[in-house]
Amino acid sequence: MKRPIFGAGWKMYLSDSEACQLAAIINESTVLDESVESYVLPTFTALNRVNNILADSIVNVGAQNISYEQSGAFTGEVSVRSLVEMGLKYVEIGHSERRSLFNDTHVSINRKVKLALENKLVPILCIGEDLNDKISMRTNEVLEMDIRTALFGVDYEGAKEIIFAYEPIWAIGQQESAGAKYANNVHMFIRKLLHSLYHESQNGNEFKIVYGGSVSTDNVEQLMNEPHIDGVFVGRSSLDLKSYETIFRKVSKSTCVK
Ligand code: PGA
Repeated sequence: MKRPIFGAGWKMYLSDSEACQLAAIINESTVLDESVESYVLPTFTALNRVNNILADSIVNVGAQNISYEQSGAFTGEVSVRSLVEMGLKYVEIGHSERRSLFNDTHVSINRKVKLALENKLVPILCIGEDLNDKISMRTNEVLEMDIRTALFGVDYEGAKEIIFAYEPIWAIGQQESAGAKYANNVHMFIRKLLHSLYHESQNGNEFKIVYGGSVSTDNVEQLMNEPHIDGVFVGRSSLDLKSYETIFRKVSKSTCVK
């Protein structure tokens, strides 16, 4: 049985002290347990402190981005080496906000994925179509392009490490998620594609695919009940303890139906 996944992307919502306060109360929470693979992704400057606060917690800590270069004259960038030194395990790569606002490209995303894997970090690779793509029925085409380019030169063992986060851009930051059935169908497509890319793959079930985009305490159960949804990636609804705990509990319970 797969361990369900609950990732929390805090984006730039919280200041360092706010991120530390939230991490401290998460650390004290009695509802969290190891049945769920969980991680929080605070802003860079809060990483070290949040990581120390959660050092003995079952909640892991990761970064929201890395440089595609290992080291050198790259002003303002953050090296994968610094994340490894800090003892982090996860790094988010290619969120749609980074693609659309900060020029992450297929090429740079592929380099970041490979650098993360070489350094034993779990890449959380975000992929997803925008509204125009959806309306013009290009969802599968866009996803195939995102996935093939991101995995260029990545072997089967590497691909199994990656958490694929399907995040339809039109469903991020909205009132409603994409809908459980819609998301499940897309996850099924992604799973089949991954299976077809790696001849070692048995049936595609070994790949980890989570859904992100307006996940809330109200819709998480429905999403997690779908067979191809291995977990959720949550933005706004992960920012207060009550909803964090509720989502955690519901993700944990979903193991019964899988
Ligand atoms: P949201 O963000 O849950 O606030 O929609 C999700 C994301 O961008 O990963």
